[in-house]
Amino acid sequence: MAAPLLLAPMAGISSLPFRRTMKECGAALVFTEMISANGLIRDGRKTVELLRSCADEKPLAIQLFGDDPQVLAAAAQLVGDQADLLDINLGCPVKKVVRAGAGSALLRNPQRVGQILAAVRRVFAGPLTIKIRSGWDQTHLNYMEIGQIAREEGVNAICLHPRSRSQNFGGTANWQQIAELKARLDIPVIGSGDLFHAADVLRMFTTTGCDAVMIARGAYGNPWIFEQAAALLQQQVPAPISTEQRWSVIRQHLRWHLAEFGEHKALIEMRKHLSWYAKGLPTATQFRGRLHDITSWPTLLDEAQNFFCSSPA
Ligand SMILES: Cc1cc2nc3c(=O)[nH]c(=O)nc-3n(C[C@H](O)[C@H](O)[C@H](O)COP(=O)(O)O)c2cc1C
Repeated sequence: MAAPLLLAPMAGISSLPFRRTMKECGAALVFTEMISANGLIRDGRKTVELLRSCADEKPLAIQLFGDDPQVLAAAAQLVGDQADLLDINLGCPVKKVVRAGAGSALLRNPQRVGQILAAVRRVFAGPLTIKIRSGWDQTHLNYMEIGQIAREEGVNAICLHPRSRSQNFGGTANWQQIAELKARLDIPVIGSGDLFHAADVLRMFTTTGCDAVMIARGAYGNPWIFEQAAALLQQQVPAPISTEQRWSVIRQHLRWHLAEFGEHKALIEMRKHLSWYAKGLPTATQFRGRLHDITSWPTLLDEAQNFFCSSPA
């Protein structure tokens, strides 16, 4: 069985080509970025685009956000056939989302959380999870209460990113809270937060007892984190990534991006990913400078090939 290493939902990042790349490199399950339930109901074109998928990324977890139980249930019904797992976002700290009463704003309204989960559970029979932060702020840490509610409403697993909404991404994730949730809840707990290297993944499993982990920023330019972490979990030494292997993955990522978005958008998006792939390599700064000035896809390909094929493993 594949190691329980999941690719986290990341708005603006977890596109289909990114998810395929992570899947190819060993992610057991990939999540879409959060998708607006309201947008889906209104059939917003952009929202529907976020649901584009393909066979080789399966199984696919779809994450929804919203504030209204009936709208979320209607959205769950719409995507039910496509979702191998459905996740409800109860943790997003972004102002626009919170102002609309969704994401982490719901942590302040446990009763509403119960209503949402009951409504979604009624219409979706597959695996249902929630993803939360530890609370609204440091004086309102209610991850345990939300976890209990989720369990009572038939949620199958809960993912905790143990920072409060007010912490945003500051400080460090308090993994102790993952350990506490795992110790007190009898449904699986998925840990998230500060998994930047394969060794962090091993440490999260051993220190929290969590059932699975969700990797987010640590996958930026480093899809190999999945197989390296899987090796560590099996008490093996991770194999180094050769120059050829690295270029082969990057080239595939480029191709998938082009096929999905066309030259203009793929160029803009892949500049960001290529900058991440270059991290730690000699002359990465100069390479990033050149990327910034590139305006055509063939030039981007040439630059990337020259740089990554001539950089040491
Ligand atoms: C750019 C970005 C976008 C994110 N978008 C989402 C999202 O759509 N849904 C969600 O539940 N979490 C989202 N997150 C939170 C991550 O899934 C994860 O819980 C968080 O980054 C902590 O993990 P890390 O420290 O390993 O990055 C996002 C994080 C980042 C950095």
